[in-house]
Amino acid sequence: MQNKIRIQILATWCGLIFLCIGLVWVLPSGAPTKEMVFKLDQFIDPETCGACHDEIMAQWQNSMHHLSHKDPVYTRVAKFYLQGLTEAGHITEAESCVKCHTPVGYVTGFPKKVSDEFSQIEGIAAQGIQCDYCHVAVDITKMYNNGLVLSPGQGEDAPGIKYGPFDDTEPEFHDAAFSKLHTDSKICGTCHDVKHVAFGTDLETTYTEWENGPYNSPDPEKHVSCQGCHMYQRPGVPATGSTPRPENPGSATPDAKQRPHIFTHYFVGANSGLPQMFSDKEKSAMAVARLRHAAEISLEMEKENTARVVVSNTGAGHSLPTGLADMRQVWIELTLTDKDGNIVYQTGVLDKNNELPENTVIFNTIFGDGKGNPVINIAKAKEILSDTRIPVGKSASRLFALNPAPRRGYTLTARLLYRSMPQKILNQLPGEPLGPLPVVEMAAVRKEF
Ligand code: HEC
Ligand code: HEC
Ligand code: HEC
Ligand code: HEC
Ligand code: HEC
Repeated sequence: MQNKIRIQILATWCGLIFLCIGLVWVLPSGAPTKEMVFKLDQFIDPETCGACHDEIMAQWQNSMHHLSHKDPVYTRVAKFYLQGLTEAGHITEAESCVKCHTPVGYVTGFPKKVSDEFSQIEGIAAQGIQCDYCHVAVDITKMYNNGLVLSPGQGEDAPGIKYGPFDDTEPEFHDAAFSKLHTDSKICGTCHDVKHVAFGTDLETTYTEWENGPYNSPDPEKHVSCQGCHMYQRPGVPATGSTPRPENPGSATPDAKQRPHIFTHYFVGANSGLPQMFSDKEKSAMAVARLRHAAEISLEMEKENTARVVVSNTGAGHSLPTGLADMRQVWIELTLTDKDGNIVYQTGVLDKNNELPENTVIFNTIFGDGKGNPVINIAKAKEILSDTRIPVGKSASRLFALNPAPRRGYTLTARLLYRSMPQKILNQLPGEPLGPLPVVEMAAVRKEF
């Protein structure tokens, strides 16, 4: 009798142990609770990938993904934000940037935080968001703050599987497999939605804006993913919501088979200044092209001295501006000239310090410290005080009181302008002075009286 009970208990224990082993086996290796730890030499240098994928490599070179760590604006803003913080929640946030900006370094142990000595970062860790990071992603744990789960190979001797859009290819150097994740906006969205790590404040919401917008249509004919615009762009083809997005026929390596579309890897958004700092005129021009096909502006007289300016987000797949909407500046400049061409009224003009006057009509977000005071340092952002960005496909309308009222022969011009960052933030950053950043005309309209 006693023996029987003992055997039963033993059997139960054995069963439980097997169940546990089974569970560990079944759970994906990068389950949410586990931090990924890899060795740097597991990841392959982008140069190696570029030996075969030469065109893709040339496109990715000097892209914001390639520069995500070296970007002098980013590194200085990150070091600047960290200065003088005392509250634990502020410090945790200010230290967290490397998870997205230096992702290969982060998953291989250095840097783990912004205060780590950046000059000691080794080899490809400094190469930003690279080939062998995106193409070894196998899953996502959360849709913000970079929830990518990786499965890298063992360096060049055993490159492992590179995941991508093809389901019919067997390259020699590496294994390849189709990945639905890579065809989905989610692979972008997990980094392009940023939440404050301590306070949960929404700092960047590009993915959520897209997710709630018309381009995330259940109808496959109307659905346009991030890739559908940003990985269709190439010189001469801005590929926005208001322009055609033709396929880019070609091959993934010079010898590979012809395919109807090869996804481009320029990853151009709106930033034309950063590529200029790295002497990349092509990507700078592509950012300008994207901005010039993002919005429309119209102008009409409401009363004899009141003008109505309407700005419509016709080309972006998300709000305008998106990303760092607290820094990005999209604003209206209005100029009234008399019959001889003299300026008689003007608003939204940069002053001699390269700053915009207080009363400028600007579309952006402003963060607060939780007590209603505006903050520039996102580490202190506990709330959103105001949000005047223009959602996908929507318009914003603003009234301007003109003084003097336009008369016969006068001309009124409204321009929509963009720059990546205010000069007063650049002026506070440590190191060599930065700027002035380029100001890009997105759209303009004129009315003659
Ligand atoms: C930010 C992530 C990211 C980075 C960095 C990246 N890729 Fe890609 N790549 C993608 C995605 C996503 C696709 C597929 C897009 C789709 O199917 O919608 C893709 C497609 C590809 C393809 C299939 C052919 C094509 O272009 O359609 C190859 C080959 C490729 N990438 C190689 C590379 C190489 C080489 C690098 C580095 C020079 C690189 N990728 C960097 C995300 C990335
Ligand atoms: C979850 C991923 C993620 C984290 C964490 C993150 N960023 Fe970013 N960062 C982004 C993305 C995505 C962009 C591009 C958005 C854009 O261009 O508007 C960006 C762009 C920037 C830029 C603009 C660079 C330029 O050249 O204009 C700065 C500056 C920046 N981040 C600073 C920081 C700092 C400082 C931290 C930490 C406090 C941080 N980021 C943490 C994803 C992240
Ligand atoms: C020796 C040449 C060579 C090298 C080096 C190389 N690839 Fe490839 N890769 C290929 C070929 C060939 C294909 C198949 C192209 C096709 O079928 O159109 C391919 C396909 C791919 C695909 C598509 C896989 C799919 O199923 O969709 C990705 C992603 C990719 N490579 C990424 C990389 C990355 C990342 C590196 C560097 C770590 C790299 N490749 C290095 C030759 C190479
Ligand atoms: C590992 C995180 C990560 C992933 C994954 C990622 N991004 Fe980014 N992306 C960033 C960061 C960080 C920056 C800004 C880098 C810098 O500061 O220079 C950026 C910049 C950009 C920019 C340039 C923004 C500008 O201001 O001009 C575009 C466009 C972009 N990403 C699109 C995409 C698309 C499309 C995908 C998916 C195929 C994607 N990203 C996937 C982190 C990521
Ligand atoms: C319908 C086309 C379209 C789609 C879809 C789209 N974008 Fe964009 N994107 C644009 C245009 C146009 C701009 C330039 C205007 C602007 O800055 O918003 C842009 C700009 C950006 C910028 C730079 C913003 C800034 O001012 O710093 C980032 C980052 C970005 N896109 C990421 C994404 C991501 C991530 C997705 C998917 C969640 C996505 N985009 C989907 C058209 C698109």
